[in-house]
Amino acid sequence: MKNVTFIGTGYVGLVSGTGISDFGHKVTCYDISEKKISSLKKGNIPIYEPGLEELIKKNTAAGRLFFSSDPEIAIKDADVIFIAVGTPMGEDGKADFKYVESAAKTIGEYLDSYTVICTKSTVPIGSGKKIINIINKSKKNDATFDYISNPEFLREGSALNDFLWPDRVVIGGSSKKSFDIMKEIYGPLFKNKKPIVYTTVTTAEMIKYASNAFLALKISYMNEVANLCESLGADIKQVAKVMGQDGRISSKFLHPGPGYGGSCFPKDTEAFASLGRKHGNKIRTIEAAIKTNSEQKLRMVKKIKNLIGGDFENKTIAILGLSFKPNTDDVRESASIEMIKNIKEKGGLIKAFDPVANDSMKIIFPDISYKNSWEEACKDTDAAVIMTEWNEFRGISLSHLKSLMKRPVLLDTRNILDVEKLKKNNFLFDNVGHNLLYEN
Ligand SMILES: NC(=O)c1ccc[n+]([C@@H]2O[C@H](COP(=O)([O-])OP(=O)(O)OC[C@H]3O[C@@H](n4cnc5c(N)ncnc54)[C@H](O)[C@@H]3O)[C@@H](O)[C@H]2O)c1
Repeated sequence: MKNVTFIGTGYVGLVSGTGISDFGHKVTCYDISEKKISSLKKGNIPIYEPGLEELIKKNTAAGRLFFSSDPEIAIKDADVIFIAVGTPMGEDGKADFKYVESAAKTIGEYLDSYTVICTKSTVPIGSGKKIINIINKSKKNDATFDYISNPEFLREGSALNDFLWPDRVVIGGSSKKSFDIMKEIYGPLFKNKKPIVYTTVTTAEMIKYASNAFLALKISYMNEVANLCESLGADIKQVAKVMGQDGRISSKFLHPGPGYGGSCFPKDTEAFASLGRKHGNKIRTIEAAIKTNSEQKLRMVKKIKNLIGGDFENKTIAILGLSFKPNTDDVRESASIEMIKNIKEKGGLIKAFDPVANDSMKIIFPDISYKNSWEEACKDTDAAVIMTEWNEFRGISLSHLKSLMKRPVLLDTRNILDVEKLKKNNFLFDNVGHNLLYEN
């Protein structure tokens, strides 16, 4: 059993910290936000993630999981310290390093014996050396440490499962002692025969950016293929399905939609492209994927505008789904933000509903109308837009929906509704890539 500390108790820190405590280690999750920590101590979980609350309860009750806003308590006796603070988009697309810098400084200030210091945050390639220097500069004694890069690949919405059953764990470092400690941290995964890959720090940092950027590229590519399908009369659903049957392509990430969002892809693609520019190796494919993505978000706005006759003025639109994907309340960079902003700016009125993300979106748009069900949101509206593929929207009764709305007008940006049923119910509708703009 090791003493493990997380610096940063956000999405990644809380999920990974809970996961590692479930592996049997003693974990302290530290955060500079005292409000967050005191709320966690009272059992209030700040994010929505399936299964997380139960696992936190289980491990706090077992005396393995603790929360603290005292850096000394958190750092002093730790065998391994994970840095899991945010790296948001900064100037010129670069990752903003200030939170990592401050976490590293704090670690140095309280370090008092040999510790493995491990970065889970997604940091620009080459950050390892910087972090080591900051810790060395702020150290007050001769305590030694080894540095590890251990990028995280969990996906919001299935974060716990991804953490506990990962496809791979990447451990970048250079000392056998630290590799052995990390092997002990991830011990249960060895028993489950999950691949653990040892690399250098720089390679581990590169693996994370290259992976995220590739997934974003795949999405943008499929969105462009879908858009061309619309012009040429091909069905993107079939195209994607058959493409996915090719093992070299794989069926994942082939679904077209309103453009990717979330706390990772937008900022990681920008940071990767920015690194390429800085080092004289432009990553043109990723630059293009970023541009395609912002255009895709606007293309969705144009689609709904066309459906309602070209003008949002005094029209009421229901927005179904606010989070950037289902099973999370995270709305960071969600495509629904661009949609709401544009409708609002052009004089439209919004009735919004998300099963869990209404409160998160209220922070960005406090002045739109939030509803408690899709039925309430769609009542007396001129059109409805599905922005997130929540399961409950897949089961919408179209006849009921039609009876609630002023006119049956619908944009399905996730292609989750049956086109034949939409036609049968005389909806004026559009989606992404089916070339099925259908007028009643
Ligand atoms: N969210 C994801 O799905 C995901 C997946 C993989 C990797 N990542 C990466 O993990 C990192 C963290 O992402 P997140 O989504 O958990 O961020 P987040 O914004 O949810 O959480 C960051 C936390 O760090 C805290 N913090 C900031 N500075 C601090 C400091 N000096 N000391 C202690 N706490 C501090 C903040 O208060 C906040 O609670 C990012 O680099 C991100 O790119 C995120």
